Amino acid sequence: MSYKEQLDLEKLPSHVAIIMDGNGRWAKFRGKPRTFGHRHGVTAVREAAESAAELGIKYLTLYAFSTENWKRPKFEVDALMHLLLQTINKEVKTLNKNKIRLNAIGNLDSLPPQIYKRLFQTIQETAHNDRMTLTLALSYSSRCEIVDAVRDIAREISENKITADDITGDYFNTKLPSYPLPDPELLIRTSGEYRISNFLLWQIAYTELYFCQKFWPDFRKEDLYEAVYNYQRRERRFGKTSDQVQKNIADEG
Ligand code: FPP
Repeated sequence: MSYKEQLDLEKLPSHVAIIMDGNGRWAKFRGKPRTFGHRHGVTAVREAAESAAELGIKYLTLYAFSTENWKRPKFEVDALMHLLLQTINKEVKTLNKNKIRLNAIGNLDSLPPQIYKRLFQTIQETAHNDRMTLTLALSYSSRCEIVDAVRDIAREISENKITADDITGDYFNTKLPSYPLPDPELLIRTSGEYRISNFLLWQIAYTELYFCQKFWPDFRKEDLYEAVYNYQRRERRFGKTSDQVQKNIADEG
């Protein structure tokens, strides 16, 4: 039986986040330039988005470009930006057809103006879609967004808009660009690396982590189903004991 057939559709994660890793190594194994891997990575982006939407996952967040990635050779950065623009242009119809809303988080002002403009156009053109929200983390750094949120709150205090007692976890969350997305229940990283790499540090406090050995360009629908299948077999305790969790389930059922 396939993983998809074994999934409990009543217990899907509402938000899945993915660290797409391994494009460069995938290409290197084939004796090709790194950009070849990025181009093939787009197929995997499509597979992940389609499978998540088909299952009924409401939010999918993809780590597409970190602030640290700007330090890569100019040729590779230019190629990635070109690919991003090309993909947005090509996929806008599919997004609307599948009722997928595009969203973006990160230091978006630092994107090349042409990409920034097209990205926001597409975000507006898909804003009415309600089947799934596809968020691209672009020029993204979780530490930066946390520092920005702290600065924002400090300013509000200095302008007497709030007091220190108003700062709660929920309030802090509203200052992050990911707000109002729910925290991801499942974070997938491909390529056999076991790191978070400055991604959604605040939001993944209780997220289940899943590490897939495949390089990103090889990621297919069945790999997403397998990750969700694995997630559904975990006990999420949120600091409670297993007995307490089981009792809650019995009481609810
Ligand atoms: C990580 O692999 C991948 C990236 C930095 C870029 C991800 C981009 C894409 C999949 C293509 C375009 C994306 C969209 C959303 C249209 P790596 O280069 O770090 O690989 P390595 O670890 O093997 O060097």
